[in-house]
Amino acid sequence: MPILSKELKHIAIIMDGNGRWALQKGMDREEGHIEGAETAKKIIQFCSNIRLPYLTLYAFSKENWNRPKREVSSIMKLLSKIIKKDLQSLMDLNISLQIAGEENELPLHVRKALELAIQKTANNTGMKVILALSYSGREEIVSSLKKIINNKSKNINEDLVEKHLYCPEVPSPDILIRTGGDKRISNFLLWQIAYSEIFFEEEQWPDFRAENLSNIIERFYERKRTFGNIA
Ligand code: FPP
Repeated sequence: MPILSKELKHIAIIMDGNGRWALQKGMDREEGHIEGAETAKKIIQFCSNIRLPYLTLYAFSKENWNRPKREVSSIMKLLSKIIKKDLQSLMDLNISLQIAGEENELPLHVRKALELAIQKTANNTGMKVILALSYSGREEIVSSLKKIINNKSKNINEDLVEKHLYCPEVPSPDILIRTGGDKRISNFLLWQIAYSEIFFEEEQWPDFRAENLSNIIERFYERKRTFGNIA
């Protein structure tokens, strides 16, 4: 198990490849999401064990609403089911839950499950898990600008834009991981990943394991982060 250094506070993950994983096994795409949710739970547990302060999971993008109704509705049902079922595990691990995205676009049953979990876990002091739901990085920046304009703020600068993002108290990710073999960002945390170390992994999300994450953390420590400066 890797020892966490102070340099590593936040890992963000694009959990891609559920659909392909299922189709390759002759199953429905929905089965891939069910297995993907199991992987998400294991990764949450591992990150909590190593005392990572923040973990962000891209669970549903704004663009995902365009998928067939049946798939969208099965992902939404899965979300509310696991949030309800695993709330006690979040409490046991002292994890607090938060969401990033347009919460009001989610079906009522998901919003209710989320609101209860967010409220119940609010005082937990361990890892913070941020679920990106109905999330778009471009939309997040636009919503920040709208809030700034509504407040009639002057002196618009980076700090001010950052203060109006969905989760202003969460530091930018140090590590961004995408599973599933594709090398793209898919509108995820566009503002926050300016200096993240990016890891594109071949495993489909349901096959991703704590050992894969451990290996990425070791590779992260070998990289030199210069933030635009010279090494
Ligand atoms: C991407 O795979 C995955 C999703 C759009 C849904 C992910 C949601 C979960 C795993 C549920 C997680 C729940 C919690 C509480 C963390 P894809 O369908 O795009 O796969 P493909 O690229 O193979 O088609």
